[in-house]
Amino acid sequence: MPRDIPAFSRPKRNRRVLLTTRPTGVPEPGHFTLDEGEIPSAGDGELLVRNIYLSVDPAQRGWAADVANYSEPVPLGGPMRALAVGIVIASRVEGYAAGDFVYGFFGWQDYAVVAPAAILHRCAQDIPLEAFGSLCGINGVTAWIALNQLGRPKAGDTLLVSTAAGSVGSFVGQIGRSLGCRTVGLTGSDAKVSQCLNTFGYDVAINYRTGDLQAEVSRAAPQGVNVYYDNTGGTILDTVLRQMAVGGRIVQCGTASVQTWVPQPTGPRNEREILTRRLVWSGFVIFDHMAAYADACEALAKLLTKGKLSYLTDMKAGIEAAPRAIADLYAGRNTGKSLIYIG
Ligand SMILES: NC(=O)c1ccc[n+]([C@@H]2O[C@H](COP(=O)([O-])OP(=O)(O)OC[C@H]3O[C@@H](n4cnc5c(N)ncnc54)[C@H](OP(=O)(O)O)[C@@H]3O)[C@@H](O)[C@H]2O)c1
Repeated sequence: MPRDIPAFSRPKRNRRVLLTTRPTGVPEPGHFTLDEGEIPSAGDGELLVRNIYLSVDPAQRGWAADVANYSEPVPLGGPMRALAVGIVIASRVEGYAAGDFVYGFFGWQDYAVVAPAAILHRCAQDIPLEAFGSLCGINGVTAWIALNQLGRPKAGDTLLVSTAAGSVGSFVGQIGRSLGCRTVGLTGSDAKVSQCLNTFGYDVAINYRTGDLQAEVSRAAPQGVNVYYDNTGGTILDTVLRQMAVGGRIVQCGTASVQTWVPQPTGPRNEREILTRRLVWSGFVIFDHMAAYADACEALAKLLTKGKLSYLTDMKAGIEAAPRAIADLYAGRNTGKSLIYIG
């Protein structure tokens, strides 16, 4: 059973954040409209969920856009696709009962009627309820599975992480450190550099916006980078490719620095780095790994309980905060996992 469950009400109407125009880059408040309607009811094989924490994720930029992706774009006029932590209010699904806490695709709205396939995880571990939106949300679980399965770090490896102070990045750094890696974090401000060093235990942290990134990475990883956990792509990746050790692994988890996919961005040709350094470059999408989700959450919850992991939450309040929250994330204005408490 989760703990630290906040107070939450049962509003009589359902407020929703609708996607009303389609962005080509980062979604801004003008792409959304707030509306209010009847509370839907659950039919056979469905559950009614009251959302408590709405999640804000960089992936929502791709879900809102009409670009080649691993999922269909959010329909215009519909509630914005989003993960959320909520409580089951009514269930017409065997195995779920009113009062169960769940995490899944419930959208930016007060209430959602969903089929069980929308649920990614049943919130059962003895950790704060909000941690199911970060540590045991796609952020922590992605960090755990992608680093272990694709990065395959060994003790003594140098692990470089971009968006190092963010939700996924901070977990990657801490997991790497617990495996005996030397950890180097890249982040976008001096305040976040301090956070990387003092809160998340990185050995070195670099502000990629100031100074000579190539020289700083080279100083931080004199033998080369064995594992690059990349959440940004773009020019940061171009630079790091030239600092990889022979036999290095790159985990392509995100592309936060790429401003738009239309037109397709171009950059330096880097295939010679892949060849001469014999690199392995793997793409990762968490939704391909649902079978490993519960075990990853169990392992992460244990590390948290033993005091071996910490996390920060950037908590906003009220559904009105949602329309500008993705833009804030892309401007790096979040400190920790971005969640919106709407209880
Ligand atoms: N593949 C998957 O299955 C999967 C699952 C979950 C998340 N992800 C990816 O993991 C990454 C981190 O996600 P998160 O939820 O933990 O978000 P987050 O790191 O908490 O927040 C996003 C961060 O991206 C950085 N950023 C924004 N614009 C940037 C730019 N132009 N150049 C470099 N950095 C920029 C900012 O950090 P700074 O202030 O440090 O620049 C910002 O705080 C994202 O790329 C996301 O898409 C992938």
